[in-house]
Amino acid sequence: MKIKIEELRKSFNEALGQCVSREDIENLRVAFLGKKGHIAELMKGLRDVADKKEAGQLINTLKVEVESAVKSAIEAIEAAQIERQVRNAKKYNPTLVSEGVFGSYHPITLATREVEEVFISMGFTIENYNEIVDDYQCFEALNIPKHHPARDMQDTYYLDNGQLLKTHTSAAQNYIMKKYGAPLRAIFPGRCFRNESTDACHENTFFQMEGMMIDENISISNLIYFMKTMLSEVFKRDVKVRLRPGFFPFVEPGFELDINCAICGGEGCPSCKNSGWLELCPCGMIHPRVLEEGGIDTEKYTGFAFGLGLTRLAMMKYGVKDIRDFNSGSLKSLSQFKSI
Ligand code: FA5
Repeated sequence: MKIKIEELRKSFNEALGQCVSREDIENLRVAFLGKKGHIAELMKGLRDVADKKEAGQLINTLKVEVESAVKSAIEAIEAAQIERQVRNAKKYNPTLVSEGVFGSYHPITLATREVEEVFISMGFTIENYNEIVDDYQCFEALNIPKHHPARDMQDTYYLDNGQLLKTHTSAAQNYIMKKYGAPLRAIFPGRCFRNESTDACHENTFFQMEGMMIDENISISNLIYFMKTMLSEVFKRDVKVRLRPGFFPFVEPGFELDINCAICGGEGCPSCKNSGWLELCPCGMIHPRVLEEGGIDTEKYTGFAFGLGLTRLAMMKYGVKDIRDFNSGSLKSLSQFKSI
């Protein structure tokens, strides 16, 4: 019996040395410790042994040894498996740049920058101006005295202190003329506010870009040249425009510059109020009274001014059918401008 026990111990140790997986060890455990395993067989053989007590102790010792060796082998295999997982795991590197989702520029910002670039290349400076202005800046300095019917065209938000939210970027004309004098080439983009009933081409909060050029011998030809250059540079394709007379008390003569609707191609749709045309950039020769009010010598200088509807320009450039999308804050539509 002793020899058998020794042989079994030897063969267990050899077999254990060959195990490489948890499954191998489990098979070995069943082969030695299972109900019909080698150790159970040895126990059965005790019947024929003279010194049952000693043989029984030896078999028990072997059983304890096998149980303990199996347990240690399983622990070692599991530890090696964890070690492997840790080694192969994706490493956390706190210095890596985050792969987060970033925002994008608003289409109005993109359109503004494009127009700015065109005018910068033609020697214009960019000016900034307040959103809250006073009656003088928004109307009186622009030859629109109190109770003038032209005020009805711009339904104004007045503040309790008598100031108002600027209805047009022309409100900065007087300030810019006084700041720089003549000669002068400046553009000034800004947000405008009007108490409008909104529709596909009207918002109560929208952007305009004002432009002024004052120098000796400035004429309507200069105005038309700058408007044409700006439009062809911004749209990078031929756009159909029309110039028609327009009334604004601060220019004489005044014009309406309309663009052929890019949404319907001129056939008529809600974006252009079914006319096929969209008012885009009124303009004209600055009225002498406005120049005088800005401290400009009208004997020497003349100038033109325009008030480009930037939000409408972005509609036409990017094919946005409804102007209200720009202020909607909808990431679904605005994030489409990421790649531009
Ligand atoms: C003016 O605001 C004049 N200050 C423009 C001007 C400047 C004329 C210099 C002559 C010389 P008007 O109200 O038409 O004009 O607005 C100018 C442009 O702003 C319009 O052609 C249009 O493109 C845009 N605009 C006007 N109202 C809205 C609105 N509610 N929503 C969106 N865009 C508008």
